[in-house]
Amino acid sequence: MMEKLLIEGGAPLAGSVGISGSKNSSLPILAATLLTDEPCVIRRVPDVSDTHYMLGILRAMGAAVDRASGTVTVQAATLTSSEAPYDLVRKMRASVCVLGPLIARLRKATVSLPGGCVIGDRPIDLHLRGFEKLGAGIRVEGGNVIVEAPELTGREVNLRGKHGSTVLGTDNIMMAATLAEGTTIIDGAAAEPEVVDLAEFLIKMGAKIEGAGTPRIVIHGVKKLGGADHTVIADRIEAGTFLVIGALAGRREGIVLKRTRPDHLECVIGVLRRCGHEIEISGDEMRVRPGTTSRGSNIETESYPGFPTDMQAQMAALFCLTPGISVITETIFPQRFMYAAELNRMGADIRLEGSTAVVQGVERLSGAPVMASDLRASAALVLAALRAEGKTEINRVYHIDRGYEMLDEKLMNLGARIERCQA
Ligand code: EPU
Repeated sequence: MMEKLLIEGGAPLAGSVGISGSKNSSLPILAATLLTDEPCVIRRVPDVSDTHYMLGILRAMGAAVDRASGTVTVQAATLTSSEAPYDLVRKMRASVCVLGPLIARLRKATVSLPGGCVIGDRPIDLHLRGFEKLGAGIRVEGGNVIVEAPELTGREVNLRGKHGSTVLGTDNIMMAATLAEGTTIIDGAAAEPEVVDLAEFLIKMGAKIEGAGTPRIVIHGVKKLGGADHTVIADRIEAGTFLVIGALAGRREGIVLKRTRPDHLECVIGVLRRCGHEIEISGDEMRVRPGTTSRGSNIETESYPGFPTDMQAQMAALFCLTPGISVITETIFPQRFMYAAELNRMGADIRLEGSTAVVQGVERLSGAPVMASDLRASAALVLAALRAEGKTEINRVYHIDRGYEMLDEKLMNLGARIERCQA
């Protein structure tokens, strides 16, 4: 059933909000449970549709899955299929991260080849290059990639592509290498906190991994991995989104974010402070207060620890209502600006020039019917709606539900006026 959000803008927000476990950590960690026949317990898995898709894929491979609120137990005693079903893969590009575990355990895997998506071309050539290096043969047949590796042998693998490294590609090769013969060295590895979280889970399972969080990861293959119990890290993008919400629509006393990892958000915090907003950090809590005078900024997305591509749409919403000109340059997914036309329908002034968005601050936005196009673009629309005059109707809310746990409830608790209804 299609749903939409109706947001009445202008309510100043205050109070506290609990940040959920990371979606982008949960997905590869859930996939990694396929590496062992023993039970694994994963805690703080956010209740979002992407994690449900992933559990559906694990079940389709023959794993027993149990979910009780945020705690998921998976046991893949025997894997009955090496094929990720098309209808699930089609819904979620991250399903590609079952390739690594399947190859490691069954020496064979089939997933449908991801096509383009709304944030642009999202190839998996680097993943495949890595598997090939470890000894796999790769065929494309009937829209599927079939990876077969009778033997997996540790090698040096370079995962640097023209847009930098690859997060899920690093995850995939790291997972496959845990059960390969000998030592694998990943050069140009992604250093995102989600890669480190996965490595920590794999180490608990018995893997031998050094260097996760740096561009060079060394994996010594082992014969077998066992079950493990792991709590995923806080979602840094959800937390970043709430920091921007506080800067954009917070009351003077601000919003408190609980159970966060401020160390994963240094770049975003730095940009918000430069724009004049106040962020106080105390342990795992952050309080954000809107600045009395704010200014724009120029940001360029980069891999971690640079400014995350998953935060630029939300920043654009903030810049729309910030005096002066701000410039956003997207280097990871150069086409990730689907939100610009929608924000402009609300009265924003965003001009696109290739992979750059030039945002001229305006005095006010006004509510309008708009369409969500992808997860982070949808978040930007929600943010703009919180400050727009009148009512904004956001269609295709399922994009938000893919990655934000209970966003409407969390915002309502802070004082926002939001209603969810059938479209
Ligand atoms: N790329 C290639 N070849 C490959 C793989 C990637 O050219 O084989 C390119 C991509 O097209 C892109 C760049 O490399 O230009 C980086 O892509 P990456 O592989 O790192 O992205 P991903 O691993 O598929 C994850 C997150 C994304 C996030 C990116 C970048 C998950 C499930 N997804 O995707 O999150 O934007 O890293 O940080 O972890 C989101 O949560 O909304 C989201 C899109």
